[in-house]
Amino acid sequence: MPESLPTEPVIPRSVRRVALVMAMEVEAAPLRTALDPTAIDLPGWAAGLPARLAVAPATGRRPEVLLAVNGVDPVSGVACVGTTAAALTTQVVLNLDDRPRPELVLSVGTAGGWVRAGARIGDTFLAWPHFSCHDRRIPLPGFQALGDGDLPAADLRSHAAPLGCRLGIVTTGDSLDESPTDRVRILENGGEVKEMEAAAVAWVCHLHGVPVGAVKSITDLVDSPVATPEQFTDNLAAASASLRRTTMALLERLSGATT
Ligand code: ADE
Repeated sequence: MPESLPTEPVIPRSVRRVALVMAMEVEAAPLRTALDPTAIDLPGWAAGLPARLAVAPATGRRPEVLLAVNGVDPVSGVACVGTTAAALTTQVVLNLDDRPRPELVLSVGTAGGWVRAGARIGDTFLAWPHFSCHDRRIPLPGFQALGDGDLPAADLRSHAAPLGCRLGIVTTGDSLDESPTDRVRILENGGEVKEMEAAAVAWVCHLHGVPVGAVKSITDLVDSPVATPEQFTDNLAAASASLRRTTMALLERLSGATT
């Protein structure tokens, strides 16, 4: 546990506006179907970003939801996974010209887990107690804290058991694999959920004083003998369906409709 973290802003008792920040449209598709949101334009100052925004109005049972997906990179033609696009999308979500800020941002997506930490394919995690980065090595005086990127997660603990979720430290890096150096850092930072966006989303949210959590569904076990890309591909659809179920139920609870 890092020695001192900034204080995490408190989530309102009844949340009125939530933003979901997601990397891949495949992960978001089941949620998009469930929410049936209306597409909105990017603000002029964000023109050129591939992010895709859509809003589903509040209902009696859930808050207004801003669904933001990083979009497709025009050069490689694939979804913009990773921290750069995640940070940019989050900056857009928090600074739309004609909309009030979300009261809570959730980084929602798939992730790797570890057999050694008791994870199983299909487990769903809520981030707690903090986010961390595992591939930013900056051995200059004072800079490693920036590299480690430890930031607190919004307190969603009360929702974990009713939603059948586990709680765990989400550790972020820009690679799908786990290099030997990453492994050492992850063992140090206690990471239980390995993915590629959450700490970047958290960094931008902390700059703006907006609470940030994460919902992550496990597609692969990093310490399994089966290659990660193979596990990821095999389990992506099931994990995305599970993200829809968990996130929809969490939204209902956040609105105060269910306790
Ligand atoms: N997303 C899904 N599985 C992952 C892994 N093992 N590492 C990083 N991001 C992931």
